[in-house]
Amino acid sequence: MVKICCIGAGYVGGPTMAVIALKCPSIEVVVVDISVSRIMAWNSDQLPIYEPGLDEVVKQCRGKNLFFSTDVERHVAEADIIFVSVNTPTKTRGLGAGKAADLTYWESAARMIADVSKSNKIVVEKSTVPVKTAEAIEKILSHNSKGIKYQILSNPEFLAEGTAIQDLFNPDRVLIGGRETPEGQKAIQALKNVYAHWVPEDRILSTNLWSAELSKLAANAFLAQRISSVNAMSALCEATGADVSQVSHAVGKDTRIGPKFLNASVGFGGSCFQKDILNLVYICECNGLTEVANYWKQVIKVNDYQKNRFVNRVVSSMFNTVSGKKIAILGFAFKKDTGDTRETPAIDVCKGLLGDKAHLSIYDPQVTEDQIQRDLSMNKFDWDHPIHLQPMSPTSVKQVSVVWDAYEATKDAHGICILTEWDEFKKLDYKKIFDSMQKPAFVFDGRNIANVEKLREIGFIVYSIGKPL
Ligand code: NAD
Ligand code: UGA
Repeated sequence: MVKICCIGAGYVGGPTMAVIALKCPSIEVVVVDISVSRIMAWNSDQLPIYEPGLDEVVKQCRGKNLFFSTDVERHVAEADIIFVSVNTPTKTRGLGAGKAADLTYWESAARMIADVSKSNKIVVEKSTVPVKTAEAIEKILSHNSKGIKYQILSNPEFLAEGTAIQDLFNPDRVLIGGRETPEGQKAIQALKNVYAHWVPEDRILSTNLWSAELSKLAANAFLAQRISSVNAMSALCEATGADVSQVSHAVGKDTRIGPKFLNASVGFGGSCFQKDILNLVYICECNGLTEVANYWKQVIKVNDYQKNRFVNRVVSSMFNTVSGKKIAILGFAFKKDTGDTRETPAIDVCKGLLGDKAHLSIYDPQVTEDQIQRDLSMNKFDWDHPIHLQPMSPTSVKQVSVVWDAYEATKDAHGICILTEWDEFKKLDYKKIFDSMQKPAFVFDGRNIANVEKLREIGFIVYSIGKPL
């Protein structure tokens, strides 16, 4: 029986390994993590992440060929294939602060693998890492090898949160990069055999190590660039009377461009787009490619601009002040169908409104009060000026209440900001909401999900992204 061990039981490690276990009953999969609470949650009925379809997959294989454990060293020692799926955040201090990837967790995982291994291993980079990381990992492993042979593969993950299970069941492609030596090719084949249990052969691509590592950063940069492009257009639409939905529909009809990922929004969030583009920017700068670095940096600058523009629109529409006014925030997660708030645009929007002394009443179906309070009390990390942290005033945090119902959040509010496109926000009784609000009642739709005509008929003043007022 092939044994797989995955280091890191997070948003990627957990779902990815659960699907491998489901599709490959002949393989034993153990997911290990240093976080005891995370592993306890994976072993309970309350999984640590909300992801549609995940519960059923885990229930089907947990205890059979899928295990979650904190006994990291034992399971790493026993495995044939080790996936490393630890976090690789942006460095906040030291060389490259604000841009470079922090590989502390990756390096410590690699050193631990070298310490405990007693047999040959295939080590798979699942985390998103800078191009050439495999070279560094090879050095760490081979300098401590005690005669053990390691093959490093790059197998970046392309799943999106909220659709992780369907993305894993039916991936557009699986990418495997390895050394172009006979041993490297043999390792690629071993990993291909795992995915071949359910992924058609023509969707499993193999490349050299550096192409695989760079393709992951490139894919995220291209995706984020589409959103910043359409968001930049949304500003021009508002200035000219064009409607961004009509423009993106017309543009996306060109089969060379395609319709997906062209929804204008309050800005993209999530743990990866900003971090991975900054990582790409840093790599370009280190290679002396200033123009290329600046090109990609602009994708993030437009994203910051879009979030600021939204806050400014709220404040200027509400007679240039939101001081003391109750504003309902509908949605805090960075997208629907997840409870993840990492880099959610809601953080910057809420902080902007709190800076203008608004009182916020926040409702999200999947985000806990603790998480929201933690996110809003954290210092803002300014990637462009990493040394100047902006402390949050303790009084601001008192201006926030978190409630468990959209009607409660909007009661007596002067305005509503829709910041996540949860389906339930489309189905709310907006007449009932209007009647319970202060007048004039405003809706600022940061996700373009509201029926603008209907809301205006009810009496709301409505602002949507990139649409005529
Ligand atoms: P995460 O923070 O949810 O999970 C990482 C886990 O690794 C944590 O539970 C942490 O405790 C554990 N960990 C860290 N160091 C460890 C060590 N030495 N030993 C054992 N466990 C350790 O992160 P994530 O969202 O799953 O992302 C992981 C990687 O995958 C990142 O590089 C990310 O860029 C990439 N990625 C993420 C997504 C996504 O949708 N979240 C998609 C594709 C790729
Ligand atoms: C993204 C990529 O889509 C995945 O392929 C990749 O594996 C992952 O990053 C990663 O490396 O972490 P994710 O961040 O989970 O996945 O979610 P997306 O669906 O890409 O959404 C990211 C952000 O963009 C969200 O805030 C979303 O609301 C926003 N978005 C997306 C828009 O504003 N407009 C769109 O048209 C699409």
